[in-house]
Amino acid sequence: MKPAEILHVDASLVDNAVSLWKAGQLVGIPTETVYGLAADATNGEAVARIYGAKSRPQFNPLIVHVANIQMATRYVEWDERAELLAKDYWPGPLTLVLKRRADSPISDLVSAGGDTIGIRCPQHPVAHQLISAFDGGLAAPSANRSGRVSPTTAQHVRDEFPDLFVIDGGPCRHGIESTVLDLSTNRATILRPGSVTLDMIRYVLRGHAPRAEVYTAGQGDGVLKSPGQLESHYAPSIPVRLNATHAEPTEALLAFGRAPKQGSAAILNLSVKGDLIEAAANLFAMMRALDKPDFTAIAVMPIPNEGVGIAINDRLKRAAA
Ligand code: TXA
Ligand code: MG
Repeated sequence: MKPAEILHVDASLVDNAVSLWKAGQLVGIPTETVYGLAADATNGEAVARIYGAKSRPQFNPLIVHVANIQMATRYVEWDERAELLAKDYWPGPLTLVLKRRADSPISDLVSAGGDTIGIRCPQHPVAHQLISAFDGGLAAPSANRSGRVSPTTAQHVRDEFPDLFVIDGGPCRHGIESTVLDLSTNRATILRPGSVTLDMIRYVLRGHAPRAEVYTAGQGDGVLKSPGQLESHYAPSIPVRLNATHAEPTEALLAFGRAPKQGSAAILNLSVKGDLIEAAANLFAMMRALDKPDFTAIAVMPIPNEGVGIAINDRLKRAAA
């Protein structure tokens, strides 16, 4: 007989998971689609640890998992289309991409520097138990290393991450990742197909003129908006100069580790102690802070190309291009 979904786990396991999240650590969690590698979505260093653990070479935006609509409205600009869809398909395998609230406490790294957040309310009862106990959003990509298939049992997750604390919720019912629907513009667009289909979404939004149209990425406007490569990703408006060992008097310096004493017009340090996790957590906020017309460029000190430094360098390279 096929093993069934586990409906409830012991309070002591939930307490362990919550303590780990509060300490900025990662926990493997079941959802109805695939297992997630979850961290406190408001803690930039915890989110940076996700990219490090997955060995993701890029900062793709992450999905924030919430317990209900009310929790979602703390983080994103909720709207009528989201309300209609959530009424029919939450909890469930539908991720809605919405604009961040101006006062959103979610880490910039979750949005990969963009101004949107992908949010979903999982249906798995254990996921719900965990998010409710934590009482906050959990950022979680699929719990596989970059380039490997998504895990649908706790054992798959343990095979990928032997040292990770994993909550066993049984085998995942759906086994494919959630549908990702971009609602951040008037043109609702499916960025990733899943078990909530185009027709199902169109049906819910029918009559919701003038914002009733739904598209699939790559259709309609001929522009492929592939997740992780979104044009909404933050790009500085002044030049970025990489591998700088010093800055000109007119430049702003984005330092890493020990910074040169004199010279620059402004300086921010990604991590004085040279910690890549801390640097990743600070990256987007510091780039934004230094992106001012007062400076001729942002000079960035070299970042070691290892661990999460690979994703930092990828982002910097694209900012400099
Ligand atoms: O079913 C799922 O969605 C699973 C479970 C764990 O919830 N999660 C998952 O996460 O598949 P991940 O990181 O492997 O894939 C998330 C997808 C990526 O393609 C990402 O680019 C897209 O969602 N995404 C997330 N936030 C986004 C945003 N703000 N804008 C555009 N795309 C976003
Ligand atoms: Mg994935």
